[in-house]
Amino acid sequence: MNGSVIDFYYFTGTGNTLRVAMKMAETFRKAGVETNLLRLEKSEAVSINPDHVIGLAFPITVQTASPFIWKFVHALPAAPGTEIFMVDTMMAFSGAVVGPLRRVLRAKSYSTIAAREIIMPNNWYPRKINRRWNNAVIARGMRKAEKYAGDILSGEACWRRVPVLSDGFCKLMLMDSIWKGRAEVGASFRVDLEKCNKCLICEKLCPVENINIDNEKPFDDRCIQCMRCIMFCPATAISRPGKEFERYRAVDLKEIIHS
Ligand SMILES: Cc1cc2nc3c(=O)[nH]c(=O)nc-3n(C[C@H](O)[C@H](O)[C@H](O)COP(=O)(O)O)c2cc1C
Repeated sequence: MNGSVIDFYYFTGTGNTLRVAMKMAETFRKAGVETNLLRLEKSEAVSINPDHVIGLAFPITVQTASPFIWKFVHALPAAPGTEIFMVDTMMAFSGAVVGPLRRVLRAKSYSTIAAREIIMPNNWYPRKINRRWNNAVIARGMRKAEKYAGDILSGEACWRRVPVLSDGFCKLMLMDSIWKGRAEVGASFRVDLEKCNKCLICEKLCPVENINIDNEKPFDDRCIQCMRCIMFCPATAISRPGKEFERYRAVDLKEIIHS
């Protein structure tokens, strides 16, 4: 890595990616590299500083990054030579992001220095959470995040080309029909009015302003399935009809709101 300041843009639903990004930021800072952790949903892609190293962190959703993240990536300005790295978190496997993202960024003349995927616990409607197992997965994820940050600093990390197949897979996974279906699932979330205390935290948490709790149908059809509202509602008043699950959170609510 050549740059001296890192602007690290992250998106997190339930905290896994935030924990990885925080661990990496801590490692960069310990090595004396100024690192700004920035919330992707509050940032303008066009306003990135091309003199800084750019980091991107996001969760895998349906084998790729959600269209919400891709929108940010596509809006990045061309930046000849600006160094950029990515990290994603996932429960098992992604087939449609590392290669396609590299291609898009290279077309904008970025220097794609490093990519890594880190396994973290599942946040997609876990039926029963095994806390011991999850803690072990998180501990391993943290070690990998620290190692990855060190590898970026030492120049040992790289961003490999991924088989051409993943470009086609990415197109498939980003088809409107898939995400329309996802948004419809989100629009079908229910609020238990006896439990809901109108704290409006769900509205604040939603990255795409999809919730208006005063409406008869509080959830609109822009849901990106980040799981924040359903997992962090302090009154556990939000549910998805027909799904039984335990609420998964990798961080406290205040860390999601203030991070
Ligand atoms: C709608 C949805 C789809 C997901 N799809 C995948 C997937 O295709 N592959 C995978 O390994 N994990 C998948 N996951 C799991 C998340 O990527 C994983 O738990 C991630 O670490 C969550 O990060 P976050 O807590 O920062 O939101 C999915 C999660 C959700 C909510």
